[in-house]
Amino acid sequence: MSGLNIVNGETAAASVAYATSDDVFVFAHQTSSPATHTLTRLAQSNTPNLLNATPKVHTLPAEADPASRLHEPLSAGSLVSVVASSRSLLASIPHLYKVASDGAALVVHVSAEHRSAHASSFGDFSDVMAVRQTGFALLSSASVQEAQDLAAIAHAASVVSGTPFLHFFDSRRVSAESTNIDLLSADILSKLLTDTDITAYRAALKSRAAAAPRSAYLRYKQKPAVDPATPSVATAVRDIMHRFADLTGRTYLPLEYSGHPHPRTVIVAMGAGATVVEHTIHRIRDDSDARVGLIRVRLYRPWSDADLIALLPDTVTRVAVLEPTTDHASAWNPLFLDVAAAVQAAREKVVVVGGRYGVEEADLAPHDVVAVLEHLDGESAPAQKFVVGRRSASADLDSDVVVIVGESRHEVKILPEGSRQAIVLSDASEPDAHTFAIAFAEAITVGEASHDAAKRTVQAYSFRTGSSHASHLRYITARSAPLPSLVTRSHVVAIRRPENADAETTINRLVEGGLVVLNGPWKDVGALGATIPAATRRAIRSRRARLFVADARAYGSEAEDAALLVALLGLHFQKNREARERALGVARANFPLHFDHVRDASVKMLDVPEEWASAEDSFDHAKPAHSAHEPRVSTKLPVETPYVKLLDQVFGPRLHIANAVNAASVWTPSASDPASSNPEFGYGLLLAQIQRRDRLVDLVRNTLADNTVHTPPDLHRALTQWLLAAKPADGSRPAHKKVAVAAGEAATLLEKHHAIHPRLAEIHTAVDLLQPRSNWLLGSDTWSYDLGQSGLHHVITSGEDVNLLIVDTTPYSRGEVDRERRKKDIGLYAMNFGSVYVASVALYSSFTGVLNVLMEADAFQGPSVVLAYLPQPSENPTAIDVLTETKIAVDSGAWPLYRWNPALEHAGREPFCLDSERIKRDLEEFLERENHLSLLVAQQPDLSRTLVSSLERDVRGRHEELKRRAREDYARLLSGLSGEATGPPLAVLFGSDNGNAEGVAKKLAARAKARGLKTKLMALDDYPDVQDLASEGNVVIVCCTAGQGEFPSNAREFWRALNALSAADLNLTDTRFAVFGLGDSHYWPRPEDAHYYNKPAKLIDAKLNALAAGKLTQLGLGDDQDADGFETGLQAWTPELWLALGVADVVAEAEPPKFSDENNKLVSNFLRGTIAQELLDESTGGMKESDTKILKHHGSYMQDDRDLREERRKMGVEKAFSFMIRVRCPGGVATPKQWLAMDELVDQYAGAALKLTTRQAFQFHGVLKRNLKTTIRGINKALLSTLAACGDVNRNIMLNPNPHLSKIHKVVYDFSIRLMDHLAPRTSAYHEIWLDDKQVAGNAVQDFEPLYGLTYLPRKFKVVIAVPPNNDVDVYAHDLGYIAITEGDELVGYNVTVGGGMGMTHNNAKTYPRTADVIGFCTPDQAVDIAEKVMLVQRDFGDRTNRKHARLKYTIDDRGIEWFKAEVESHLGYKLQETRPFHFTDNADRYGWTKGIDDRWHFGMFIENGKVKDWPDFPVKTGLRELARWHRGDFRLTPNQHLVIANVPEEDLERTKAHLAQYKMDNLNFTGLRLNAMACVALPTCGLAMAESERYLPSLVTKLERAVEEAGLRDDAITIRMTGCPNGCARPYLAEIAFVGKAPGAYNLYLGGGHKGERLNKLYKESVKEAEILAELEPIIKRYAKERNDGEVFGDWVIRAGYVKATTAGKNFHEQ
Ligand SMILES: Cc1cc2nc3c(=O)[nH]c(=O)nc-3n(C[C@H](O)[C@H](O)[C@H](O)COP(=O)(O)O)c2cc1C
Ligand code: SF4
Repeated sequence: MSGLNIVNGETAAASVAYATSDDVFVFAHQTSSPATHTLTRLAQSNTPNLLNATPKVHTLPAEADPASRLHEPLSAGSLVSVVASSRSLLASIPHLYKVASDGAALVVHVSAEHRSAHASSFGDFSDVMAVRQTGFALLSSASVQEAQDLAAIAHAASVVSGTPFLHFFDSRRVSAESTNIDLLSADILSKLLTDTDITAYRAALKSRAAAAPRSAYLRYKQKPAVDPATPSVATAVRDIMHRFADLTGRTYLPLEYSGHPHPRTVIVAMGAGATVVEHTIHRIRDDSDARVGLIRVRLYRPWSDADLIALLPDTVTRVAVLEPTTDHASAWNPLFLDVAAAVQAAREKVVVVGGRYGVEEADLAPHDVVAVLEHLDGESAPAQKFVVGRRSASADLDSDVVVIVGESRHEVKILPEGSRQAIVLSDASEPDAHTFAIAFAEAITVGEASHDAAKRTVQAYSFRTGSSHASHLRYITARSAPLPSLVTRSHVVAIRRPENADAETTINRLVEGGLVVLNGPWKDVGALGATIPAATRRAIRSRRARLFVADARAYGSEAEDAALLVALLGLHFQKNREARERALGVARANFPLHFDHVRDASVKMLDVPEEWASAEDSFDHAKPAHSAHEPRVSTKLPVETPYVKLLDQVFGPRLHIANAVNAASVWTPSASDPASSNPEFGYGLLLAQIQRRDRLVDLVRNTLADNTVHTPPDLHRALTQWLLAAKPADGSRPAHKKVAVAAGEAATLLEKHHAIHPRLAEIHTAVDLLQPRSNWLLGSDTWSYDLGQSGLHHVITSGEDVNLLIVDTTPYSRGEVDRERRKKDIGLYAMNFGSVYVASVALYSSFTGVLNVLMEADAFQGPSVVLAYLPQPSENPTAIDVLTETKIAVDSGAWPLYRWNPALEHAGREPFCLDSERIKRDLEEFLERENHLSLLVAQQPDLSRTLVSSLERDVRGRHEELKRRAREDYARLLSGLSGEATGPPLAVLFGSDNGNAEGVAKKLAARAKARGLKTKLMALDDYPDVQDLASEGNVVIVCCTAGQGEFPSNAREFWRALNALSAADLNLTDTRFAVFGLGDSHYWPRPEDAHYYNKPAKLIDAKLNALAAGKLTQLGLGDDQDADGFETGLQAWTPELWLALGVADVVAEAEPPKFSDENNKLVSNFLRGTIAQELLDESTGGMKESDTKILKHHGSYMQDDRDLREERRKMGVEKAFSFMIRVRCPGGVATPKQWLAMDELVDQYAGAALKLTTRQAFQFHGVLKRNLKTTIRGINKALLSTLAACGDVNRNIMLNPNPHLSKIHKVVYDFSIRLMDHLAPRTSAYHEIWLDDKQVAGNAVQDFEPLYGLTYLPRKFKVVIAVPPNNDVDVYAHDLGYIAITEGDELVGYNVTVGGGMGMTHNNAKTYPRTADVIGFCTPDQAVDIAEKVMLVQRDFGDRTNRKHARLKYTIDDRGIEWFKAEVESHLGYKLQETRPFHFTDNADRYGWTKGIDDRWHFGMFIENGKVKDWPDFPVKTGLRELARWHRGDFRLTPNQHLVIANVPEEDLERTKAHLAQYKMDNLNFTGLRLNAMACVALPTCGLAMAESERYLPSLVTKLERAVEEAGLRDDAITIRMTGCPNGCARPYLAEIAFVGKAPGAYNLYLGGGHKGERLNKLYKESVKEAEILAELEPIIKRYAKERNDGEVFGDWVIRAGYVKATTAGKNFHEQ
């Protein structure tokens, strides 16, 4: 043969599946497919796979449960593939979830088929899209070559990432298309999927299996314990694609852009359709350099918004998403939704529209793509939704769909010069039509291309149309993926049976003057004309065809194909003998038996008579009903339609919707019978039907048993089968497919035999009841108002197998009205009845989840209630509206997604499964009552009860706020009337994230008021309507800069609204404005990022200018880099403002004194404030700012969940406030009893995670205000305290955690307790507020603070005690430190250190971290006194005017260390002694077992970032709780957030070891890097965090570990620390490598800290993101491994290697 490797897509994929798998499963629908032939042929010939074995090929029946078969080989580590049609997918959804959660290497090759039988040449991706949320990676192939190549990539990526892949392609234009491809050799495959990868996969699978939680769903949700070495799916795919390109030269990317470098319009597509778009775009770019492009999606899941946006050129203004998806479920298709959501968030100006193709019209041709591009490029806004090439009117045309059809004039141009196209039309009965077509195309190619046929492309695509079989062929003079569109301008049309009625339409595809070859015996044109239809004659004439007749039939039916081929080749190559011989070689190879016999077959030319032009016709075709671009508007889509379509998709003919049978919608009942939409009505129908069916079962049973009825044996068998299937003897659930098959057979036979006996006739009348049904009632949420009385109640309590689907359309973000009408929760109501299946779903949150629930509800034997969410936030919502509304409702817990399946409970499993993150309070209460929540929380540790949203509370709070605002407005109005402010009006609007801009705006507003202006002040987003700006008079806008040149969160909506307006919409000629921006010109230091500086202010200024507003002043800019920060710019700008407003000369009243933190403490009455009153106020979950500042001294900070901030702000509800509580714990020592108490309190009130902090304290997060008091009481009851755990006082004292290692530790611990007591605040407020409920001292007995006085300290004060050689407490990082000095094993005293501190502010050189100075030595008995005096000096000299400059370190640097020492000594009345020598080795924790004095044992345990909670694979919280129940020693929190199980008596040692092993708590097998890593809490709770820390560092360490391990540094201790902001809670500036958060995802990278905590590090790179971090650090780490001197630590080496300079003192920290 020609050696051209012509294959179709399905065979190509199946061959790869065979070569790369141990087991291949094929579904029965596929048995007749080429894939099955290929697989069985390979297996039968014992062809080996890559692993040198013969894979097992299993053929599964179509209805088989695939998971039951896949599970065994997968869990044994076999590589498995499945070759399936998309029709099998829906039923497999529950299994797909399970397989995905197992993390197994499986590739499912799916041919995406149409559910309907119409003749589109493309696949239908609907069913594939339906499983997009199962956790499978989805990879799409767009050509036959890709079907092979991506199949191989999928197999390799699946093994490398431990993720199952679904590789899909169009059932027709890829699966069934034959073309020549470059085959993958076994050698290439084995380099792509290596033995090493397979071995690693099997090892990982084993270890994962050991740690997996028991519920499949939870396993999927939790994505447990990913092996750190396992790359993400996206990375794996990208890496494998690179590997593939290196091996083959063929390059693929997960997402790929092609087209103009600066496009205006971009199409996003996947599958064969994308190939059509690509060809078209290339051609029109060649012709006209049109600014168009294509983003081709190959890796569809996991989906990355960021990758899409990164690929979308900045110049794009319009995006069209094209999908071959029938609109089963929603008004918007899946890829469109993904693209629209991504683009909307990142590029708000870009218009995204969605189109479908291949739905009704068979083809997507280049001219259609041109039409789409022209539509997008048009003057007017493009249609949101359109259909490509849909010509005929259709009943289900749903909403405002525009039809776009191209004109067929571009296609030929797509093909390179010299290419040829042909169509062969055969009868449908022709068995080998496609084989013939391939041979024809191949022969032409070999003939045309003498020796380089491999550089040409052969393409053959065949399909059935009615009674015919059409093959569209191309010979293309270049090598590329062929155009997967039908031939529209054929050079040759060959018709094997010219009598065929489809001949005419085929001939209409001929180029003018092309060749028509008719196969038949006609001697002359007269005889021919008499046989073929008139329409065919007319067509031949009108195309001016050259007509030939080939009488291949004369050679006999066996040789006909061969003869026709030879005749056609003779015609084609009539002038080129040599070429003809080559082509005939192919014919001979294809028809070896007949070739010689037919060698002379030829064609005869006939003249086409003139009169054929007007031949009588009887086959006229209807004109298209709609022409291009004509908008078709139909009635609005009823809201329940998407769910009905889903039901239809899942249950097909089994679906029976009982109510609203004749109504257009359950919302608009039919006028003639309004009751038909009621549940009672449908229920009545259903009940009647269920009873009828039961009667039928009895009737069949009795008839079969009755000997007097002579039932024919075949009918008897069929009815018996049916009975067995429909009512299984064991009472189990009937298998629907079986019932359906039996019912079909029985129905056919009844048709034949029913007359035999009246009983059979009776059965026959009820024949429709034989079929299995899925019974549904549809309803709306209006049913929920009167649940008890409604028919719904009857349905729920009936126990019948009835399913209810209730669609709720309430947009909960604005849904207060419904709440007031006391809408009840149907789900809760139903769950209370126990044996009802209840699920709550949302189509736009999880499509696959909905399908899964519908199947579960159907399978449940008894009533099921499915609550389905489809919010309608407006009259005509867009996709994005519904999507956003759904997301808000699901995220906030207003619409939780859950399933309650009592069947599971009967099987001894947890019946409740929460599929979203949050739940409403009433639901939580139900679960608590049902005692299921505890189980649930145990299974799903991330479920934070404390964050449960309480909408009722929010709504109440909001009403209060509205009332308050109304009062203020009224007061403002009055003040205006009373003439208090008479000057011109002024609106001061601000956008601010962290308060700077808000502060400036407030100041400006206060001063304006003082100058007599009628001033109002508000956040930009609170401004009611931008149109009102026109009547505002004067507007001042103060706006900061967030993110990368982004708007702050409370200014985004304002900007969106303003920016959307043009001068025609809003004329601001009567408004004058001034804008002041706050930014930082160095926040993003790269020169190309300079445009981020103060971007929002610049944009607003330009926009207002464009809207014709007058300028009060030039744009003012404040820069954090200026000497006084933004104040510098502000001071220059404000005089201009007053001048412009005409109030420069007004002498304003002196500004009211600023209420500083110092004032606040002063008036707080010894730390009381109004905390007690605030605790009683239930209208808000928060507290007044002044009280929150006082509250810190009591050990608690108010925080809010920052993940939810934006969402809640949009909902108009207050932030999700909660409180952090810090528990003071001197030296970090806690008894087992105390541990148990902390554990329990955390469970009850604090989100189930206990944090061990960097100051050896316990920290609780997420405590609600109403639980604050109870929690603090609980802590005190356990003899611990929160007093002075935060605030401007002495904090928790830190100490080396293992005091029992030597006698010295004991002495030191006792000292720390004395010191703690001595420095504790004396106020009785703590006791009064939290413990006693009544004022102890109150005003009668005055509190007294002998050490602190009324205003306490200027800032926090931190004390630590280090015991050399270990500097784990980081003695240099604190205000006051003691270094224990020993002689023998006696403590002789302490060296004293002062002035350490970490906190600073980014880019503010006046702030810096500082290492402490050692100022001398003291004896143990002087030590407490010294602490007091150091504190007093700081109390009196610390800077109380500027909190940023108030720490002791600045007092010392401002006045000199000598001054400070002298001041302390003068307070002491004696001098400190000379510093004694000491030696530190490091600042790390000690891990593992050590034996101390008294034969007691201590175990240093690793707890990553101090987070004690039950992780899926590491239930440390339970493990420690269980240990605390019998442990006889104590627990020690370490300074690096780990834990020591201390003082284990010798006799408990083994038991303790066994316990630790049981919970994996003895695992210390981590890299040196991880063991020495530390992160602060940061997001989501810390209000100061600018970036992630605790949630991110572990994964970053994982990535760095690769470099470390490769460099052979696995066990080297390199300290690495991360904080979310420069405040420095995790002491980052002393680490050898440090990351300090700058903005989401961006960090400043510092290097060169001292390994013993003795030296500060230095900024190495600013604002780096992960990729840059890795790119920077990996080479440094590798160089370090090679170049370091013996014993040289990383921090020292980076300085020697010149990466950074050494920082010798805090003051030179910022010097580069
Ligand atoms: C996370 C973050 C990102 C920032 N990005 C920019 C920026 O892109 N351009 C800029 O000029 N300033 C930037 N800044 C600086 C702030 O705009 C500036 O500090 C301002 O004073 C903050 O005002 P606010 O307190 O009202 O939020 C950024 C600040 C932060 C915290
Ligand atoms: S370092 Fe910053 S982000 Fe981290 S916990 Fe401390 S204040 Fe919060």
